[in-house]
Amino acid sequence: MTKSDVPVICLDGPSGVGKGTICLAVAKKLGWHILDSGSLYRITALQVSRDFPEQAINTLDESQLADIAKNLSVSYVEKNNELVIFLGEEDITQLIRNEEIGSIASQVAAISPVREALLARQRAFLTEPGLIADGRDMGTVVFPKAVLKIYLTASAEERAQRRYKQLKDKGIDANLSSLVEELRIRDDRDMNRKTAPLKPALDAIIIDTTELDIKQVTNEVMHWVSQRVA
Ligand code: DC
Repeated sequence: MTKSDVPVICLDGPSGVGKGTICLAVAKKLGWHILDSGSLYRITALQVSRDFPEQAINTLDESQLADIAKNLSVSYVEKNNELVIFLGEEDITQLIRNEEIGSIASQVAAISPVREALLARQRAFLTEPGLIADGRDMGTVVFPKAVLKIYLTASAEERAQRRYKQLKDKGIDANLSSLVEELRIRDDRDMNRKTAPLKPALDAIIIDTTELDIKQVTNEVMHWVSQRVA
């Protein structure tokens, strides 16, 4: 099988819609590889925040930011069914998941040379027997020939509510209305940037998950997988 024959399923959608969870569930059922493309923007954000502490992203030189993205020494290692992410020798799996890094990630992701720098790295994840890629532009830019493109959506209130519950379950204090506000800001930035804005591919199947639980969404995606993937 040549690389271009390896099947890809794209799962795109806004922050907090559950792409990562569904991606893992589907990958497990199929025995395929995963690309969590948001993690690459988050790792870039982490490195930028270390190289330029306290500096606003829009004051930084774009080509310098692109060089950071290009030269990241990242590795993904599977351990006990979990994906562990290393930056050099450092385990940064948890470190990149906070809201601050998410917000910086959304800002560096709006910079075209940064997106360009991460393109080849994302495509390199395409290996047999297949790939499930989650992000914002998987179906529109990174894998336009994907065999199946799914766009997950849900209201900002519902996504914030899910996030709120997750944080509470972990014993972390959170404020629902500021979570809704943060999601709206992130949606606005991701949907309205010049390069590769978040939007469904023309040939994507749109699933509104507002009223659905994880199992129902996974079943719906698996239904489309059975239709499209031999
Ligand atoms: O999915 P996430 O929350 O981990 O992504 C973090 C940020 O990275 C998100 O706000 C937008 C950006 N991103 C992107 O622009 N394109 C992708 N394919 C994935 C993420």
